[in-house]
Amino acid sequence: MAENGRQVSLLPLVGPEGPAYGRAMSTVSVTHHPLFVDGRHVDTAERYDLRDPATGEVVGTLAKGTVADVDTAVEAARRSFAAGVWAGRTPAERSAVLSRIAGRLAAEVDDLARLEGSVNGATIRQATAFHAGFAAPHLQHFADLAASYAFERVIDTPPVPTLSTNRIIREPIGVCAAIVPWNFPLVLGIWKIGPALAAGNSVVVKVDERAPLTLLRLAEIAHEEGVPDGVLSVVAGPGPEVGARLASHPDVGKVGFTGSTVVGREIMRLGSGTVKHVTLELGGKGPAIVLDDADLDMAVEGILFGCMLFSGQMCESGTRLLVPAAGRDEIVGRLVERVRALRLGDPRDPATDVGPVISVAQRDRALHLIGRAVDAGATVAVGGGIPELPGFEGGSWIEPTIVTGVTNDMELAQVEVFGPVLAVLTYESEDEAVGIANDSDFGLAAGVWSRDLRRAGEIGRRLRAGTVWVNTWHGVDNNAPFGGYGQSGVGREIGPDALDAYTETKHLHVDLSRSAGEQIFALLQPGPGA
Ligand code: NAI
Ligand code: MG
Repeated sequence: MAENGRQVSLLPLVGPEGPAYGRAMSTVSVTHHPLFVDGRHVDTAERYDLRDPATGEVVGTLAKGTVADVDTAVEAARRSFAAGVWAGRTPAERSAVLSRIAGRLAAEVDDLARLEGSVNGATIRQATAFHAGFAAPHLQHFADLAASYAFERVIDTPPVPTLSTNRIIREPIGVCAAIVPWNFPLVLGIWKIGPALAAGNSVVVKVDERAPLTLLRLAEIAHEEGVPDGVLSVVAGPGPEVGARLASHPDVGKVGFTGSTVVGREIMRLGSGTVKHVTLELGGKGPAIVLDDADLDMAVEGILFGCMLFSGQMCESGTRLLVPAAGRDEIVGRLVERVRALRLGDPRDPATDVGPVISVAQRDRALHLIGRAVDAGATVAVGGGIPELPGFEGGSWIEPTIVTGVTNDMELAQVEVFGPVLAVLTYESEDEAVGIANDSDFGLAAGVWSRDLRRAGEIGRRLRAGTVWVNTWHGVDNNAPFGGYGQSGVGREIGPDALDAYTETKHLHVDLSRSAGEQIFALLQPGPGA
């Protein structure tokens, strides 16, 4: 996978003997983590326990914020924005600060990987490559955009002088909210904080109470590197109260959200009261179409990478496998063999391929959905149960699972499991494959496996998804937009135009026909944002 020209192994999911991914077997001591509001740590009356999903053990505690903490953070953001302490800096200055923060994230990548994995269960290999590894390059992308973005441009066509002069000016919205889930809090947080700060906004982040640590660390680093008080706050608390207050707060102008489609709908509704800008990145049920000419060695590895990475807890996971009916037995046979070889166990051990899922509730939901598919006539080809892992009995585990005989009308083909569960469907013709792939409420990511790149590309154009991969998966590139069709979301994150979603657009039109031309031109020198 190409990430800013740096090659990341296609399969950090599989293969233990690569470079040392972090130090193994480190333990996290039970530390209390306060919130970060208006430039300082803020503690609260109540606390959450932070648990390691691999063992169920408490590894820390977190301040449990309230609506009052959100209000304090939003007020600090509003005040800092009005004072111009960040928005008033030049884009080059903001870019320099963001670059320094990115440098700190790069230097701390091993610590950040351990920190994130300790509470969301990501294996150390995967956390180092993705959860923490993407943080610095992605923030650097936004630092670069701050420096290159057209905050102001003249749209007059020569010859000048004309009878009017016109500019398009992009201004920060003001206070932006970022509501982030537990699966990739640091990276998904940066996808919102990065463009917001690059454009000059102040930001209030609501982290998920299960995985707050890396974004709290980011807020500390940002403060140390010169982001002024109030410009970046991080709060935690119950989603339906604290998150909902942030999403509906009258002083918040924009909400960026990643999470479930159910809550995404609620965010839209909550934002409608004051007509907020909203971007939503929601669920998926990614179809992976294997064509009859696919290189099966490559496809089998890639299909498992696409579905089993982070135990399937990724919005863009490839969880619906579409195979030609005639090739099904061979493909499934090979997949089952590879799944049996995957190593489950201590996420801190670099040899581990697959870790736990986030919670017992999520495990049970996945088991329930597998059971419902079997009731509807599907077959479990491998997995489908709770693995026996000595020492990890208190954790939330589920075996990597392949279910065959799935049809697209089954619940398992239509709802997001968010677990290591691959549903296998068959098709007879390419048209049928495209039809099944597109028959979904979701449209986040899709993929095609084929030796014929022209054929794969043509199918890719017909798939209704925000990202289509050919012969790979999880190729998220900060130079390309990411987001979904249909109920997978609204708007796009990262990519070249990422700052558009964090700015208001102004057309400044100055009539010159009746004015003293010289005076007008003097007024029209480029502003600080030019
Ligand atoms: P969720 O959508 O409930 O939570 C995401 C964030 O929204 C969290 O910070 C949560 O506290 C907050 N939140 C919850 N209710 C809210 C409300 N009424 N107003 C404002 N904020 C609110 O997702 P959860 O519970 O973590 O997972 C449920 C399902 O969502 C998963 O099984 C998966 O299918 C999907 N999901 C998708 C993700 C993605 O990357 N697109 C990430 C996480 C979950
Ligand atoms: Mg929830």
